[in-house]
Amino acid sequence: MIILASDHGGYELKEKIKNYLAKNYDVVDVGAFVYDDKDDYPKYAKLAMQRMIESKNARAIVLCGSGVGMSIICNRYKGIYATIGVSEEQVRLARQHNNINVLNLGGRNTSFAKAKKLIEVFLNTDFEGGRHTKRLNAIDK
Ligand code: RB5
Repeated sequence: MIILASDHGGYELKEKIKNYLAKNYDVVDVGAFVYDDKDDYPKYAKLAMQRMIESKNARAIVLCGSGVGMSIICNRYKGIYATIGVSEEQVRLARQHNNINVLNLGGRNTSFAKAKKLIEVFLNTDFEGGRHTKRLNAIDK
Protein backbone atom coordinates (compact mmCIF):
# COMPACT_ATOMS: atom_id res chain seq x y z
CA MET A 1 0.00 0.00 0.00
CA ILE A 2 1.17 3.50 -0.81
CA ILE A 3 -0.34 6.30 1.24
CA LEU A 4 -0.46 9.75 -0.33
CA ALA A 5 -1.05 13.10 1.34
CA SER A 6 -0.47 16.77 0.61
CA ASP A 7 -1.50 20.26 1.52
CA HIS A 8 -2.19 22.82 -1.21
CA GLY A 9 1.54 23.29 -1.84
CA GLY A 10 1.85 19.68 -2.97
CA TYR A 11 -1.68 19.11 -4.23
CA GLU A 12 -1.08 19.35 -7.96
CA LEU A 13 1.95 17.04 -7.88
CA LYS A 14 0.15 14.59 -5.57
CA GLU A 15 -2.71 14.28 -8.03
CA LYS A 16 -0.29 13.48 -10.87
CA ILE A 17 1.54 10.94 -8.70
CA LYS A 18 -1.77 9.33 -7.69
CA ASN A 19 -2.82 8.80 -11.30
CA TYR A 20 0.62 7.47 -12.16
CA LEU A 21 0.87 5.01 -9.26
CA ALA A 22 -2.75 3.83 -9.33
CA LYS A 23 -1.98 1.84 -12.50
CA ASN A 24 0.34 -0.51 -10.59
CA TYR A 25 -0.14 -0.04 -6.85
CA ASP A 26 -2.77 -0.01 -4.14
CA VAL A 27 -2.89 3.74 -3.44
CA VAL A 28 -4.68 5.37 -0.50
CA ASP A 29 -5.07 9.14 -0.69
CA VAL A 30 -5.85 10.74 2.68
CA GLY A 31 -6.21 14.27 1.24
CA ALA A 32 -6.25 17.07 0.48
CA PHE A 33 -9.03 16.28 -1.97
CA VAL A 34 -9.40 19.80 -3.34
CA TYR A 35 -6.99 22.69 -3.81
CA ASP A 36 -7.50 25.09 -0.91
CA ASP A 37 -4.73 27.60 -0.25
CA LYS A 38 -5.96 28.01 3.33
CA ASP A 39 -5.41 24.40 4.33
CA ASP A 40 -2.56 23.48 6.68
CA TYR A 41 -0.01 20.72 6.20
CA PRO A 42 -0.02 19.33 9.80
CA LYS A 43 -3.56 17.99 9.31
CA TYR A 44 -2.57 15.86 6.31
CA ALA A 45 0.74 14.70 7.77
CA LYS A 46 -1.17 13.42 10.81
CA LEU A 47 -3.76 11.59 8.68
CA ALA A 48 -1.00 9.95 6.64
CA MET A 49 1.06 8.91 9.67
CA GLN A 50 -1.97 7.49 11.48
CA ARG A 51 -2.65 5.38 8.41
CA MET A 52 1.00 4.30 8.23
CA ILE A 53 0.94 3.15 11.85
CA GLU A 54 -2.24 1.12 11.25
CA SER A 55 -0.83 -0.50 8.10
CA LYS A 56 2.09 -2.94 8.19
CA ASN A 57 4.79 -2.47 5.53
CA ALA A 58 3.11 0.52 3.91
CA ARG A 59 5.05 3.35 2.33
CA ALA A 60 3.94 6.96 2.12
CA ILE A 61 4.63 9.88 -0.18
CA VAL A 62 3.78 13.10 1.63
CA LEU A 63 4.01 16.47 -0.07
CA CYS A 64 3.86 20.14 0.77
CA GLY A 65 5.27 23.19 -0.99
CA SER A 66 8.88 22.60 0.04
CA GLY A 67 8.68 19.13 1.61
CA VAL A 68 10.11 20.56 4.83
CA GLY A 69 7.03 20.96 7.03
CA MET A 70 5.77 17.49 6.16
CA SER A 71 9.15 15.85 6.85
CA ILE A 72 9.38 17.51 10.28
CA ILE A 73 5.99 16.12 11.29
CA CYS A 74 6.43 12.63 9.81
CA ASN A 75 9.69 12.13 11.70
CA ARG A 76 7.97 12.75 15.02
CA TYR A 77 6.18 9.40 14.76
CA LYS A 78 7.98 6.33 16.13
CA GLY A 79 8.88 3.87 13.42
CA ILE A 80 8.69 6.51 10.72
CA TYR A 81 11.82 7.42 8.81
CA ALA A 82 11.15 10.26 6.41
CA THR A 83 13.25 12.44 4.19
CA ILE A 84 12.82 14.94 1.41
CA GLY A 85 13.78 13.42 -1.94
CA VAL A 86 16.63 15.43 -3.45
CA SER A 87 18.32 13.10 -5.95
CA GLU A 88 18.02 9.48 -7.06
CA GLU A 89 21.32 8.65 -5.33
CA GLN A 90 20.23 10.28 -2.07
CA VAL A 91 16.89 8.42 -2.09
CA ARG A 92 18.71 5.15 -2.89
CA LEU A 93 20.97 5.65 0.15
CA ALA A 94 18.02 6.70 2.27
CA ARG A 95 16.40 3.32 1.51
CA GLN A 96 19.58 1.22 1.76
CA HIS A 97 20.99 2.79 4.93
CA ASN A 98 18.14 4.61 6.66
CA ASN A 99 15.21 2.37 5.68
CA ILE A 100 13.00 5.37 4.97
CA ASN A 101 9.33 4.49 4.74
CA VAL A 102 8.15 8.00 3.89
CA LEU A 103 9.29 10.10 0.94
CA ASN A 104 8.60 13.80 1.22
CA LEU A 105 8.45 15.91 -1.91
CA GLY A 106 8.17 19.65 -2.46
CA GLY A 107 5.47 20.41 -4.97
CA ARG A 108 7.05 23.77 -5.68
CA ASN A 109 10.56 22.47 -6.32
CA THR A 110 10.04 19.04 -7.90
CA SER A 111 8.90 18.41 -11.47
CA PHE A 112 6.64 15.43 -12.16
CA ALA A 113 9.43 13.87 -14.26
CA LYS A 114 11.86 14.09 -11.35
CA ALA A 115 9.23 12.90 -8.85
CA LYS A 116 8.66 9.76 -10.94
CA LYS A 117 12.39 8.95 -10.90
CA LEU A 118 12.66 9.51 -7.14
CA ILE A 119 9.56 7.41 -6.49
CA GLU A 120 10.83 4.51 -8.61
CA VAL A 121 13.99 4.42 -6.50
CA PHE A 122 12.01 4.81 -3.26
CA LEU A 123 9.73 1.88 -4.10
CA ASN A 124 12.30 -0.45 -5.63
CA THR A 125 15.33 -0.23 -3.35
CA ASP A 126 15.73 -2.58 -0.38
CA PHE A 127 17.09 -1.76 3.06
CA GLU A 128 20.55 -3.30 3.46
CA GLY A 129 20.15 -4.20 7.14
CA GLY A 130 23.39 -5.31 8.82
CA ARG A 131 25.26 -2.46 10.47
CA HIS A 132 22.46 -0.07 9.57
CA THR A 133 19.92 -1.93 11.72
CA LYS A 134 21.95 -1.24 14.86
CA ARG A 135 22.01 2.45 14.01
CA LEU A 136 18.27 2.66 13.45
CA ASN A 137 17.67 0.80 16.71
CA ALA A 138 19.80 3.42 18.48
CA ILE A 139 17.52 6.15 17.11
CA ASP A 140 14.43 4.38 18.40
CA LYS A 141 15.93 4.02 21.89
C1 RB5 B 1 2.31 26.38 2.37
O1 RB5 B 1 2.30 27.64 1.80
C2 RB5 B 1 3.73 25.93 2.67
O2 RB5 B 1 4.26 26.63 3.75
C3 RB5 B 1 3.76 24.44 2.94
O3 RB5 B 1 3.24 23.77 1.82
C4 RB5 B 1 5.11 23.81 3.19
O4 RB5 B 1 6.03 24.14 2.20
C5 RB5 B 1 5.66 23.93 4.54
O5 RB5 B 1 6.74 23.41 4.87
